[in-house]
Amino acid sequence: MKKRVLVVSSANMDFVMKVRKIPDGGQTVIEKRGYDYIPGGKGANSALALAKLGADSVFCTRLGCDNHGQKLKALYSDSGIDTRFIVSDRNAPTGLASIIVEENGQNRIIVYPGANERITAEDVEDAMTCLPDAVFMHFEVPFAAVVAATEFANKKKIPVFIDAGPASSDYPLEKLGRLEVISPNESETLALTGILPNNADNCLRASYELMKRVDTKYVVIKLGGRGAYIYDGTYAKLLTTYEGPVVDTTAAGDAFTAALTLEYLRSGDIVRAVKYANAVGTLVVGREGASSSLPTSAQVDEFIRANGIVL
Ligand code: RIB
Repeated sequence: MKKRVLVVSSANMDFVMKVRKIPDGGQTVIEKRGYDYIPGGKGANSALALAKLGADSVFCTRLGCDNHGQKLKALYSDSGIDTRFIVSDRNAPTGLASIIVEENGQNRIIVYPGANERITAEDVEDAMTCLPDAVFMHFEVPFAAVVAATEFANKKKIPVFIDAGPASSDYPLEKLGRLEVISPNESETLALTGILPNNADNCLRASYELMKRVDTKYVVIKLGGRGAYIYDGTYAKLLTTYEGPVVDTTAAGDAFTAALTLEYLRSGDIVRAVKYANAVGTLVVGREGASSSLPTSAQVDEFIRANGIVL
């Protein structure tokens, strides 16, 4: 049976420009490589990744009653996502992200949250009626919604997975309930703990700090091209990632944490789940855009086979 994952998180339209060099303050540059509008949003990227990887993906979010909102909702339905708990909000536009991608694939993102900011505890309570195997969230939606979802899930003993992006130093982690996994990337780890996870010692110190602030079974720090670091309060392990081209890192973290969640639900094995997620992340950074870069489960299986990866 498919694992059902309820994603309570954001949906955006991404306005994407590729640039050779980020302009300096006050500088104007002409960049003729064009631009694109690509469906994105951390939550939508994860919900789409889950659907493509074989989960029963249920999405709780808010969209504006505008063209972007209509296009996004149609894409989610066509991709097999359960859209019953997406609210079309008359009082705010669909979220928009302005994304600059440099030649090395590195991105810079500014988000206007729009309707995402209006997701409520009632929206979440309604969505919990889908009886999920797991609840999955980012910090790109109101804190009250994240707290409500964690409380509902804890009461029903449903595991909670959090991708800690975007993070700020004052995010009140202490007020969250019990988590199964919290997974920040390098800059989010720095924001939440004050420690840059740039070597094994600092990964351990940062994981330890996170576990002091939030009740979680695992910390999984995403280290980009270096892989991912797992800490369970006693043991720690660095799992290096795999070779592949880096074209655009957008959505790699969203897809990584989604893949980790699904494989962990299927196997109950965090190491196996992180190896699977590393394979998904490697495929995502090799392609352009957010939702446009997400692989299918068949493509991931083929990558794992072709690279002799033992999960
Ligand atoms: O993680 C990438 C995503 O962050 C983008 O798709 C953008 O919409 C922002 O939410």
